[in-house]
Amino acid sequence: MKTMGFLQFFVAPVALLILCGQRFCLACQQQTEVEQRKDWWQTAQFYQIYPRSFMDSDGDGIGDLNGITSRLEYLKDIGVTAAWLSPIFKSPMVDFGYDISDFYEIQEEYGTMEDFRALIAKANLLGLKIILDFVPNHSSNESEWFKKSVKRERGYEDYYVWSDGKLDAEGKRIPPSNWLQGFRGSAWEWREERQQYYLHQFAVQQADLNYRNPTVVEQMKRILRFWLDQGVAGFRCDAVPVLFEVEPDENGQYPDEEVSGLTDDKDDRAYLKMDLVENRPETIDMVYQWRQVMDDYQRIHGGETRVLLIETYAPPAYTMQMYGNKSVDGAHLPFNFNLITGLKSNISAPLVEQTIDLWLKNMPAGRTANWVIGNHDQRRAASRYGTQRTDAMNMLVMTLPGASVTYQGEELGMIDGVISWEDTVDPAACNSNADIYEKFTRDPSRTPFQWSAGTNAGFSDAAKTWLPLAPDYQTLNVEVENANTNSHLAIYKSLVELRKTSKTLQNGVHKYKAINDDIFVLERSLKGEETIVYIANFGNEAKTVDVQNDFDAFLPSTMTLKIRSLDSIKAIGADINVKTLSLAVGEAVVLRGRPK
Ligand code: GLC
Ligand code: MG
Repeated sequence: MKTMGFLQFFVAPVALLILCGQRFCLACQQQTEVEQRKDWWQTAQFYQIYPRSFMDSDGDGIGDLNGITSRLEYLKDIGVTAAWLSPIFKSPMVDFGYDISDFYEIQEEYGTMEDFRALIAKANLLGLKIILDFVPNHSSNESEWFKKSVKRERGYEDYYVWSDGKLDAEGKRIPPSNWLQGFRGSAWEWREERQQYYLHQFAVQQADLNYRNPTVVEQMKRILRFWLDQGVAGFRCDAVPVLFEVEPDENGQYPDEEVSGLTDDKDDRAYLKMDLVENRPETIDMVYQWRQVMDDYQRIHGGETRVLLIETYAPPAYTMQMYGNKSVDGAHLPFNFNLITGLKSNISAPLVEQTIDLWLKNMPAGRTANWVIGNHDQRRAASRYGTQRTDAMNMLVMTLPGASVTYQGEELGMIDGVISWEDTVDPAACNSNADIYEKFTRDPSRTPFQWSAGTNAGFSDAAKTWLPLAPDYQTLNVEVENANTNSHLAIYKSLVELRKTSKTLQNGVHKYKAINDDIFVLERSLKGEETIVYIANFGNEAKTVDVQNDFDAFLPSTMTLKIRSLDSIKAIGADINVKTLSLAVGEAVVLRGRPK
């Protein structure tokens, strides 16, 4: 299917029509989903909060828990089902919380355990769910576990992945393998005191835990139960594909990774293939074990389903195993990052179609899809896709079947911050240099959330915030957008409203197609209910299309305009003739109507 989509760019127009025709027929053969009751997470709006940048309550320029608590009404107002918080645990903040020194404590600058309980209590009152970030792969090298492991204290000797390394031709000790870390340079760091190297797939300060040690596995499950006891609704699991790496041979030696050919930069992790350090089979089994922890917990304590969301940038064959198989359940939702990784440049309607195919045509039967367009590791969605496509992308995520995921600020159309080398704090960039840091930095999408046009965009009273504000905060903010009936936020809210009220969006079948290079159409339909159609122009020129003729003959000729992108001149509630529908560049519409 993938190759076929690829071919569409090259084959002659006639062949192209035939290919499109075939694909279209396949799309018609969707299983007829009967209306069924879905569990809360299957139709949820998930929302990622980056706590450091959401709301600062104490004027230190850094977001915190009380800040989040003070803004939970906002989440409720925009229709969030569950918010997942990037790490809030005790940390030296080398990787801004992804280097945890105590998995059972709250980072002081973010607040206290009492603050966290207050957050949960208020969320419960509002009917919001809170999900935490679980960082299973590594701990900070300042954690007690690591310190004990360095000293070979009993029970901690093998908590991390230690190795003697090897001797080079001159008899000099060198790292055990050529493996590279995520933030440039070797994945092995020498510890004088222990006279061994430890593995770190990310920064030197993020030591990889040893999952071949059952004590570690048990400890990590204890962490899950500990936070479930605090009332969280589940976890987003960090960096899961790197959990396991190949086992050393009988002499404790590790094999070298082959060169990938993708870059000449020898410090960049992408310089090597990652076959030995990522996407190992043992990792899949660990995800199934964590699912068991969730299910057992629910069985014992009752309440609603606790969910597992998994961070995985991996090929579909691997990612789909995260869902589980016929005999065992895995993650509720392995994040679908295809709209991020698949739509990098030259966005076109056929590319959007293929990108959606990549998930829906590979997903095992009976599982739930999900759609992500951004997070704290990627440039801002609006900047990546082009600001004129901001609403088109939010609309797509909200009309496709399954769960939607929003990274804070996407609902406002927030754009990348512009951050000088001097102001750069992300280790992925700081470990490079002033000439190339922009290629690696993740700071631009982590700037303070924009609440208003006031001082620090209403995020903080501090003289200086931990990262500078992004441009356009005077117009792209909650206060201004809430006051305007035509804003990214208003559009986002009507999308959520539609998701919540439309049985078609919740339970309907789907059919989608690029009807030419620019126009993409997605239809959701359900017996006895109104059909909902999303149509977007992903091209660089205005286009007029006949959706009835080119997509679905059963559509009524006239449909009602329910939602449209910001710059559209079409009126909400207007009758739209789908046989002569003109869409400007970046324009997207959501229509509804009874099928013929
Ligand atoms: C994940 C996180 C990222 C972090 C890395 C190491 O990819 O999303 O922010 O740097 O894991 O924990
Ligand atoms: Mg603060």
